[in-house]
Amino acid sequence: MRLPGLTDPHVHVRDLQQSHKEDWFSATAAALAGGVTTILAMPNTQPPLVDEVALTQYEVAARARAACDYGIYFGAGPGNVGAAAGLASRSVGLKLYLDATFGDLKMSGLDALVAHCAAWPKDRPLVAHAEEQQTAAVILAAHLAGRSVHVCHVARESEIALIRSARERGLAVTCEVCPHHLFLIEGARPARQFEVVAKNARGWSGAYAEVRPRLQTQADVDALWTNLDVIDCFATDHAPHTITEKESTAPPPGFPGLETALPLWLTAVHAGLLDLDDVIARMHAGPRRIFNLPEQPATWVDLDAEATWQPIGAEQHTRAAWTPFEGWALRGRVTAVTLRGERVYDSGQILAQPGFGHNVVG
Ligand code: NCD
Ligand code: ZN
Repeated sequence: MRLPGLTDPHVHVRDLQQSHKEDWFSATAAALAGGVTTILAMPNTQPPLVDEVALTQYEVAARARAACDYGIYFGAGPGNVGAAAGLASRSVGLKLYLDATFGDLKMSGLDALVAHCAAWPKDRPLVAHAEEQQTAAVILAAHLAGRSVHVCHVARESEIALIRSARERGLAVTCEVCPHHLFLIEGARPARQFEVVAKNARGWSGAYAEVRPRLQTQADVDALWTNLDVIDCFATDHAPHTITEKESTAPPPGFPGLETALPLWLTAVHAGLLDLDDVIARMHAGPRRIFNLPEQPATWVDLDAEATWQPIGAEQHTRAAWTPFEGWALRGRVTAVTLRGERVYDSGQILAQPGFGHNVVG
């Protein structure tokens, strides 16, 4: 079976100063192994991507090392409203952190939110980590500024219900969900829909189950499945941290996800929870529309849709050598990827050279 090249609009790459977790090559290698030919990279890096110097450093690193295509988000802060807007043409979007997470980019207060909504060009994507009340705040602030907003990693019933109401009233709100919020509940236990698939799961828990937004209840998982029609994109929020860091006294939140996402969605297709067209709409057409991404000519993903396999963290391309889905019996596996006419992945091997990837805004 063959799919078009997929896009993941929410990936944490970790170059430059946290490359022990991931760098542009390891992140894009993990992407290709998961059938993803474009990643959009988040700005909560070290150094944080909140000024032109850091953006340039990141562009240079990506040009040298990325094996698939990519875009780079700029990070909003209280003091960079004008600078951000001035660099919009070099960024795939502006990321607003309205809730606390890994890194120091949380932006408090209404003034900065309203100022960024007004200043960031209306034809460029604005994306937000905005949980619970912040979901309402960002939707209203964007609406009053006469612009659209994309809500990242929706996890709760209350949030998807709010997004549905906003959409039904014609507001320009789009959103994404992550596999872990549809396949796992608190404690990283399998959601009811996947208990059989996960019967031999290794069962990572404790710090390994920590992610932002947190894993929620079965009712929240059910609400996301029920409201798939208002979900525009599937994103991984691929947030690699090493086993040593997860075992430490201050474990960071986040899961790797690039190499398990498509197989999880295909497993859900096999279980009758969605159609293959639903997956393509959310991993190809949806992100392309929302993030204004260019076509990738002669690009496709070959799958063995029937293969049953168990992900093994240590065998992944990501430097986070674990996965919350370790031991799950997944159905469907990427066999090869062709990007712009070149075979870039084949049977576990990355064939693309570092630097093969293009910047989608470049
Ligand atoms: C992300 C990370 O590690 O960068 N962690 C997470 O739990 N999702 C941060 C984020 O996505 O906000
Ligand atoms: Zn994230």
